[in-house]
Amino acid sequence: MQINRVAVVGAGTMGSSIAVAFIGKGIPVLLKDIDQAQLDKGLANIDRLLKSRVDKGMAKKDADAQRALVEATTEYSKFSDVDFVIEAVAENIDIKKKVFESLDEYCNVDAIFSSNTSSLSITQIGSFTRRPDKVVGMHFFNPAHLMKLVEVIPGLETSQDTVQTAISLGQTLGKLAVRVEECASFLVNRLLGRYMNEALWCLLEGAADIETIDKAACDFAMPIGPLALRDMNGADIGLAVAKFNFQEYGERFAPCPILEQMVEKNMLGQKTMGGFYAYDKETRKRAGANAEMSTILNAVRNGKGEKKNATIEFKAERLFLPMINEAFLCLQERICAPEDLDPALCAGLGMRIGPLAMATQMGLDNCLKQIEEHFEVFGERFRPAPLLKRYVWSKRTTIS
Ligand SMILES: NC(=O)c1ccc[n+]([C@@H]2O[C@H](COP(=O)([O-])OP(=O)(O)OC[C@H]3O[C@@H](n4cnc5c(N)ncnc54)[C@H](O)[C@@H]3O)[C@@H](O)[C@H]2O)c1
Repeated sequence: MQINRVAVVGAGTMGSSIAVAFIGKGIPVLLKDIDQAQLDKGLANIDRLLKSRVDKGMAKKDADAQRALVEATTEYSKFSDVDFVIEAVAENIDIKKKVFESLDEYCNVDAIFSSNTSSLSITQIGSFTRRPDKVVGMHFFNPAHLMKLVEVIPGLETSQDTVQTAISLGQTLGKLAVRVEECASFLVNRLLGRYMNEALWCLLEGAADIETIDKAACDFAMPIGPLALRDMNGADIGLAVAKFNFQEYGERFAPCPILEQMVEKNMLGQKTMGGFYAYDKETRKRAGANAEMSTILNAVRNGKGEKKNATIEFKAERLFLPMINEAFLCLQERICAPEDLDPALCAGLGMRIGPLAMATQMGLDNCLKQIEEHFEVFGERFRPAPLLKRYVWSKRTTIS
């Protein structure tokens, strides 16, 4: 399907940067928010993002030409000739319901609707319309104008044509567009969640300190350590995501109690200038591990200041084994094509090597052995994925 006119609903953090991704490719965007004040905030963010491009060398006249491609509105009446909508309003099912009902009423019957939801069901969102076959998830990563991945998630009723149109549109934006079947947190955040949570358990057990954990992750595969990343995104967001994953997937996602304590003490990370790290008040830059974390750790360790026994010596692999195991569970559930999994993780998280390549580099048999050893000590978080066992039994050394 030819896409000539795109609309973005919600001009917040994601909506405004998604709009920048479109205008950067010369595609006009109709941008909608609830009122002029919210719209103005979104437009100011677009101006800021374009200015930073000019500061980095883009010609001012090109930036102005891109800016002119944004039409801002507070009315759905402008939506009658839109072909493709990306919804990026607050993560609340009642708000999304109202938005999709309005879109269904005002848009052409052929228009496709996508949602940038991080956690809500695409099938449920599709059910708010009379065109569930034309509703699809398009999960961008923050900041959407820079991050290279978009997960394209069909709901139960989504047609193949709709999926293909969303994938083509993602590719037009210069992104890796990967089809991901509907599951809680989708692919990348599901795998990320296992690794982030394990980093917290390592810290709680005293297996390693904050800087050692982050350095190990960076040396192994990551552009930023898990605890520094948690500080960037906020312990409150991390806690909500961890609780959601636990509710959806059960014990292996059991949230580490550190986050709850951090939220209680308002140590949310960068936004409160204190989390796992301390931050310089002037520069807002990281200034070493936060000494106040020892209070939190002691409180969680039953106030006795005791560390739990870390019977397995800490190595970077400890952080990645749950992610690798979850990757095999995703393949088992056919969440994505095996060849898409590592590229999606690398594009979405900036990893230098994806979890499946890690597993094959370790040797699948060795990887399973390590997971089994951790399972003996730490339990459910390391219960080996049946598909990994099958690969080892069949003596396969590559994943396809
Ligand atoms: N922030 C992230 O890192 C991130 C990453 C991926 C996906 N998401 C998802 O993207 C969506 C938006 O997140 P965000 O961080 O941009 O939120 P945000 O709070 O920054 O922006 C939401 C915007 O939607 C507007 N809005 C609310 N109700 C509306 C309505 N009825 N019609 C039009 N606009 C309305 C708000 O005024 C606000 O401008 C959520 O579903 C979120 O889960 C966020």
